[in-house]
Amino acid sequence: MLKPIGKGNSQLARSDWLGGRKKPPLLRTRELAYGVLERLGFGSRASEATGLPGAMLSEVLLVSAPGKVILHGEHAVVHGKVALAVALNLRTFLRLQPHSSGRVGLNLPNIGVRRAWDVASLQLLDTSFLGHGDGAALTAEHMEKLKEVAGFPEDCVDPQCLAVLAFLYLYLSICRSQRALPSLDVTMWSELPTGAGLGSSAAYCVCLAAAFLTACEEIPNPLKDGEAAGRWTEENLELINKWAFQGEKVIHGNPSGVDNAVSTWGGALRYQQGKISSLKRLPILKILLSNTKVPRSTKVLVANVRSRLLKFPEIVAPLLTSIDAISLECERVLGEMAAAPTPEHYLVLEELIDMNQHHLNALGVGHASLDQLCQVTTAHGLHSKLTGAGGGGCGITLLRPDVEQPEVEATKQALSGCGFDCWETSIGAPGVSVHAAASLDASVQQGLDSL
Ligand code: MEV
Repeated sequence: MLKPIGKGNSQLARSDWLGGRKKPPLLRTRELAYGVLERLGFGSRASEATGLPGAMLSEVLLVSAPGKVILHGEHAVVHGKVALAVALNLRTFLRLQPHSSGRVGLNLPNIGVRRAWDVASLQLLDTSFLGHGDGAALTAEHMEKLKEVAGFPEDCVDPQCLAVLAFLYLYLSICRSQRALPSLDVTMWSELPTGAGLGSSAAYCVCLAAAFLTACEEIPNPLKDGEAAGRWTEENLELINKWAFQGEKVIHGNPSGVDNAVSTWGGALRYQQGKISSLKRLPILKILLSNTKVPRSTKVLVANVRSRLLKFPEIVAPLLTSIDAISLECERVLGEMAAAPTPEHYLVLEELIDMNQHHLNALGVGHASLDQLCQVTTAHGLHSKLTGAGGGGCGITLLRPDVEQPEVEATKQALSGCGFDCWETSIGAPGVSVHAAASLDASVQQGLDSL
């Protein structure tokens, strides 16, 4: 757990704000920290001069957030329609290590990023252009300024560059509430493939937002002594989600917000124009998740659908309305199934999958690899659709309970034969969480140590 300097008093304050106050007593704990620094002979603005943490960072923080699968409603959700999204049991993990080196570092072993900045130089920047997590749009000018800070050329749009920009944006925006920017290292490792439509960028932004907000004591660390994992309160999740959405905007331009919402809350969500509601009752659904490994850009695909809608409003608007109706019907059927699933319910789910896949093709977000995925699974009596932005990326295949395991294995083998990666997975994983170090799997520890 992160422990404040001057622990005794601030622990009292901590129980006080856990008892209902909206924000932790930043000033009191910070004053204590400066008091300690002064006694150590660093002077009253010691942390600004030395890069020593202005906040109360002293211990490692471990956070994780899940990826997502959109069952129905991708693209339509950007135009105000309903999307149904579920959290996947594939997660992104973050380790935040506070220190006093006067540097802030970012390590992303999955995509080969290793960067560090001098805290003192970042401290001197005019950061008035940054957001306040209030949902304000990020302008091209903001992006230019961020690129300048990161030392990237203006035309830089590759995933590495966007990941660094989102990191800097969230670090500078959230941590500037501190008297001095903290020195720290962030390492992130993910079980999620990047750019495949599984919400890897949202899980990335959710982890960063949760870690920075916790490290800066804007929200409390919910991990209790002796527990393996902790989850934040509803109010804290809302703040995490708000900031994660801002990070997503840095990466995707104009996302709907569904990806960061499902990564924050987990489970299964109905999402429409920022309105989020959890599907209270969810049947156990098994799906096969396939990654075609065809790279694509969510930003470009979303922009293409928008152009098609503007070019052919009479044709494309009804498609979006129909996708909306598919999402609502799916939600209704899932509710019924949670009480008493019947074979007919699965047949309805399959029909909805087929209709939506055709609509998505008509929107122009299909791809030959996704057609191949659908053909292969049809040959095994199964139904598939793309998930996420399309244009390649991932597809989902519903596994009815009556499908025998050898048939599932044969389907997986056929899909692997096409060059796709396949996972058999269930849906509805927990949202953003904080972990005790001892509770992390060896594979996760290894991943975080792999750069
Ligand atoms: C991407 O996972 C889903 C899209 O609908 C884009 C968005 O909602 O921001 C394609």
